[in-house]
Amino acid sequence: MQFGVSDHEQVVFRRDAEKGVVGVIALHSTRLGPAAGGCRRWQYVTEDAAIADALRLSEGMTYKNALAGLPFGGGKSVIMADQHRRPTSAQLARFAQWLNDLQGTYITAEDVGMGLDEARALARGTPFVSGLGHSGVGGDPSPKTAYGVFLGLKTAVQYGMGLQHLHGVVVGVQGLGSVGMSLCHWLARAGARVYVTDIDPQRVREAESRFAAVGVAPDEIMRTPMDVFAPCALGGVITEEVAASTPVQIIAGAANNQLASSEAGDVLAQRGILYAPDFVINAGGVISVAHEYLTQTGQFAEHAEHSAEQWVGSRVDGIAQRLLDIFESAKRSGAAPDTVARARAMQIVQAGPGQQLAA
Ligand code: NAI
Repeated sequence: MQFGVSDHEQVVFRRDAEKGVVGVIALHSTRLGPAAGGCRRWQYVTEDAAIADALRLSEGMTYKNALAGLPFGGGKSVIMADQHRRPTSAQLARFAQWLNDLQGTYITAEDVGMGLDEARALARGTPFVSGLGHSGVGGDPSPKTAYGVFLGLKTAVQYGMGLQHLHGVVVGVQGLGSVGMSLCHWLARAGARVYVTDIDPQRVREAESRFAAVGVAPDEIMRTPMDVFAPCALGGVITEEVAASTPVQIIAGAANNQLASSEAGDVLAQRGILYAPDFVINAGGVISVAHEYLTQTGQFAEHAEHSAEQWVGSRVDGIAQRLLDIFESAKRSGAAPDTVARARAMQIVQAGPGQQLAA
């Protein structure tokens, strides 16, 4: 079964030929709150590919936000672009208008191809963007994402390999962008042996010099014998073929939609390879952005006693326990962890809004 072909509430396709911008905004669910999820700027080969990506990514956001206990539904937007060119301010202003048309049912932030500068440019045209780092809270979500992935990876090593530490554990990181590089920092600090790859050789050299990492060619990383594979580039890398042949024991990384299909997850489970569902362990960034948005919109009035660090930190730390619960439940039921995590998230969605802001 392919993911992302299900029951979205609303999908908007917009084109402004004059300004040269095409965007897709997908709202998978608004049951727990406004659909929240970043905006990706990417060079899609076809419009269908852009729509398919928005559908898959927004569905993943529903699961991610629900499991993280956030008062948000799931959404995602994509802009078709040549990612080697910076977007013009007129293009971003047009996209901001499309966000305004949705009247706050969708809230966006940075994603691949959209950095802080672009998010701030969007914010000049719409209030429905967060992750801007105003008032000393939030900002770039990547460090929080990387830390949450690190906690999830450690939990998976503990559960799958019976180790309380990462010392000497061999981890391969695919993609050395904002999240992958920061993950390398935590892994090196914990004594892991880190293999790295990126299509940008400069980033590989940086990781080699900063973290004593070992550079591997992009097409070699998935064949390299390692304990853990951490996909931190793009999604869809775990196909059924990869699942059937990978030499690793654990897969735990940041990339959204790592599994190309649910069957790939089943193959991993049958082979005894422990898969940490991406939307469980990469929630650190959205937790941080959520805090920023809720603060920005005055929704914390009755919980004013908490500090940003406490609120965000406790939820990011909670990733470890949430993942353990999913592994335990998968073991009991015989289902793949990804299947268990999706079902659990949908139970939360179906139960409806209520407890998300408490605790
Ligand atoms: P980024 O754009 O900063 O970095 C991606 C890196 O992957 C780049 O260095 C790029 O050169 C590299 N790359 C692309 N294709 C590759 C390939 N085939 N082989 C090796 N390297 C390749 O993106 P960022 O922010 O680090 O995000 C990484 C992943 O994590 C994405 O899938 C993103 O959706 C996901 N994610 C990111 C979050 C965040 O807070 N930034 C939050 C949750 C998920």
